[in-house]
Amino acid sequence: MRVLVTGAAGFIGSHLCERLVAEGHDVRGLDGFTDYYDRGRKELYLQDLRSSERFELIEADLATAGLHAATEGVEAIFHLAAQPGVRGSWGASFDVYLRDNVLATQRLLEAMLPHRPRFVLASSSSVYGQADRLPVSEEDAARPISPYGVTKLAAEHLATLYRRAHELSVVTLRYFTVYGPRQRPDMALARFLEAAVRGVPLEVLGNGEQSRDFTFVGDAVDATVKALGAPSGSCYNVGGGSRATVNEVVAMVEELLGRRLEVHRRPAATGDALHTWADTTRIRQDLGWKPATGLREGLRLQVEWTIAGHPPDL
Ligand code: NAD
Ligand code: UGA
Repeated sequence: MRVLVTGAAGFIGSHLCERLVAEGHDVRGLDGFTDYYDRGRKELYLQDLRSSERFELIEADLATAGLHAATEGVEAIFHLAAQPGVRGSWGASFDVYLRDNVLATQRLLEAMLPHRPRFVLASSSSVYGQADRLPVSEEDAARPISPYGVTKLAAEHLATLYRRAHELSVVTLRYFTVYGPRQRPDMALARFLEAAVRGVPLEVLGNGEQSRDFTFVGDAVDATVKALGAPSGSCYNVGGGSRATVNEVVAMVEELLGRRLEVHRRPAATGDALHTWADTTRIRQDLGWKPATGLREGLRLQVEWTIAGHPPDL
């Protein structure tokens, strides 16, 4: 297939492009190289892809660029481009969330109308906010508790209404805290490992008893590729099945590094859900997807990648 991946230079997007190219697809990657984190990292992630004949890169901002050339001739679009990060979405930076998550999605949906490709949307566990019951299923209420979550839910609604109004094929994936090599530098595990490598204290927000359903990036990518075969209109939780508290992952990092780490406690962040835990019954049944990499193994791979000095600005 010929496919478009937005956010192709990012953490999950670059892994997805590599997988699609390896499976024989022709991949058009699009990225605007936003300044949320260092461009040098993203260039490194694209290095192998750029040498493939099956990959082409379009540098464009979805919120402003003409998108006809990007969407023309593709059979599927994986829309991963976004302004991510829960804790930074308050205050003046909401502008960027609105632009890159809502406006960008609407412009992409408009641009693809004449071509009618399948559309796979990267959404987030943050749409649930603090779920009433755990594990949370796709049928449970989506009530975000962060401005970021509101914009991701808005993107879902836009995709749904374009699907209904224009009979498009749309599938939504709600990823739960994805980790592994190339993880974004603002995320907990990346920050912990960077602090450990630099020999500075790591910061735990709140009492560290909050938990996440950690999802290894390879598993998230696998679910994303499988979503091409999903019925239109479906929405799936993508959770790694490795639920752990922040204190537990700090202990795992210490075990993997073979040394104790100095931990500084900081106040809990507004908008952070206390616990996340995905009910993945639906994706298991419909797509035969299940996570293959447990937290200990995935964390070992991220530790190795970090120690090998892969983030160029570390
Ligand atoms: P990332 O920041 O590494 O990648 C996003 C990419 O999108 C970046 O390279 C950025 O330059 C690009 N981008 C942003 N706005 C753009 C625009 N207007 N035009 C063109 N490109 C633009 O983030 P990630 O962690 O890989 O997240 C990918 C997707 O998955 C996002 O939609 C995010 O909301 C979602 N998600 C991520 C996680 C996670 O744990 N990483 C969990 C849930 C959902
Ligand atoms: C992550 C991504 O950053 C979001 O883009 C994504 O949408 C979301 O997952 C999701 O699942 O939908 P988050 O769960 O906050 O968000 O992921 P981490 O940054 O890995 O944080 C996990 C926990 O560690 C949070 O409770 C946070 O407060 C805590 N944390 C984070 C620390 O204790 N210390 C830090 O330095 C950073």
